[in-house]
Amino acid sequence: MSPMRRQIIVERPGPHRALMIKETPIDPPGAGQVQVRVAACGINFADIAVRLGLYGAAKGLYPLCPGLEFSGVVNEVGQGVEEFKPGDKVFGATRFGGYSTIINCPSEYLWPLPQGWNFERGATFPVAYLTAYYALHEVGHLKPSDKVLVHSAAGGVGTALLHLLRLNGNMVVGVVGSGRKKDPAARAGADHIIDKSAEDIWKKAEEINPEGYDLILDANGASTLMGSFSHLRPTGRLLIYGFASMFSSSGKKNLPKLMWYYLKTPRFSPFDLTSQNKTVAGFNLIYLFEHVALFRDIMRQLVRWDAKGLLPPMPVTSYPFEEVAKAHKDLESGNTVGKLVLTV
Ligand SMILES: NC(=O)c1ccc[n+]([C@@H]2O[C@H](COP(=O)([O-])OP(=O)(O)OC[C@H]3O[C@@H](n4cnc5c(N)ncnc54)[C@H](OP(=O)(O)O)[C@@H]3O)[C@@H](O)[C@H]2O)c1
Repeated sequence: MSPMRRQIIVERPGPHRALMIKETPIDPPGAGQVQVRVAACGINFADIAVRLGLYGAAKGLYPLCPGLEFSGVVNEVGQGVEEFKPGDKVFGATRFGGYSTIINCPSEYLWPLPQGWNFERGATFPVAYLTAYYALHEVGHLKPSDKVLVHSAAGGVGTALLHLLRLNGNMVVGVVGSGRKKDPAARAGADHIIDKSAEDIWKKAEEINPEGYDLILDANGASTLMGSFSHLRPTGRLLIYGFASMFSSSGKKNLPKLMWYYLKTPRFSPFDLTSQNKTVAGFNLIYLFEHVALFRDIMRQLVRWDAKGLLPPMPVTSYPFEEVAKAHKDLESGNTVGKLVLTV
C-alpha cells in the first residue's frame, strides 16, 4: 500500500473553509523524480486566486492542492536521478501541489538548499526571486541607469525586486499601501518611499522624478495601471504581472468588484504606444513552467549572488501547516510584509 501524506486540498473553489487538510496516498517517485519530505511551503498571492477559482492555469484541475514552492529533505529518488540522494536538504518549485507534507518533484525543479539557509528561506525563495529576475532582466531589459518605480514594494515579489535593483545600482521608488511597510521597503533598498495610504502616489512620484520612469512594475491592475503608464518617460517600459487590486479582503469572490475592476482595466492604444515610445509588457511564469532551462539559468545566477552575500534574507512570517486559512486571510488583508510560509 502507498504511504500516506497530508495535503491541503481545494475540492471546490471558495472562501477560507475551502482549504481542507486531507490524508492522501503518495506513489514512489517516478523516473527523474525526487520524493521530498516537506519542511516548509511558501504562500503566494496566486494561491488565493487558486482557492477562489480565479486562476486561469488551475481551471479544470480541481480538486487541487495549491502551492508553488517548498523546501525539505529528500526521502527517496526515482530512476535516473543522480544529483540528489536521501537526506539532502533541498528547495523547489512546483506547478501546484506544494501544500503537502510529502511531494514527488521532477529533479530539474529542485535545488540543493544553500549553506546557511533555513527551510523557511528555501520555501519562499523561488517564486519571488524567479519572478523578480525574469521581470527585470528578461522582460524589462534593465540598465543600471534606469529609474524604476515598484508598486507593493514591501510584499514578496516587491522585496525581491528591491533586492535585485539595489544589486544593479538603480534609483528606485517603492510604493507601499501603509505606513508600517515604509521601513521594510527602505531596508530592502528603496531610495524613496511613497505611502499611498497617506499621500498621492503620482504627485509624489513626479516630485521625486519629474522626467518620468524608465521601468514601472505593476501587479495591482486597474487601481494603478493607467497612472503607471502615464508616468513612463519616452522609451519607458510598464511591466504588468498581476491584478491584486481586483481581490477582496473578505476571503470571498466579490463579483461586482471583479467586474468593475475588469471594466476599469485600461486597454492600451497602439497609437499611444508608438507616438509616446512606451512599451507595455505582461507575463505570468506559471505559463512558462515547462521552460526548464530558463528557470535553471535564472536560479543559477541568483544562487551565485547569494553565495557572495549579495541577497539579504527577506522578512518571512511562519504559520503552522494547519493554519493555512489564517495565512491566506493575512495575505488577502494587504497588510503583510515579505513572504508567508507554512511549516510542517
Ligand atoms: N506573473 C507572475 O509570474 C507572478 C509571479 C508571482 C507573483 N505575481 C503577482 O505579484 C503580486 C505580488 O505577489 P506576492 O505573492 O508577492 O504578494 P504580496 O506582494 O506579498 O502581497 C500582495 C500585495 O498586493 C497589494 N494589494 C493591492 N491590492 C490588494 C488587494 N485588493 N488585496 C490584497 N493585496 C492587495 C498589497 O500591497 P500594497 O498595499 O503595499 O500595495 C499586498 O500586500 C500578485 O499580484 C501576484 O499575483 C505574479
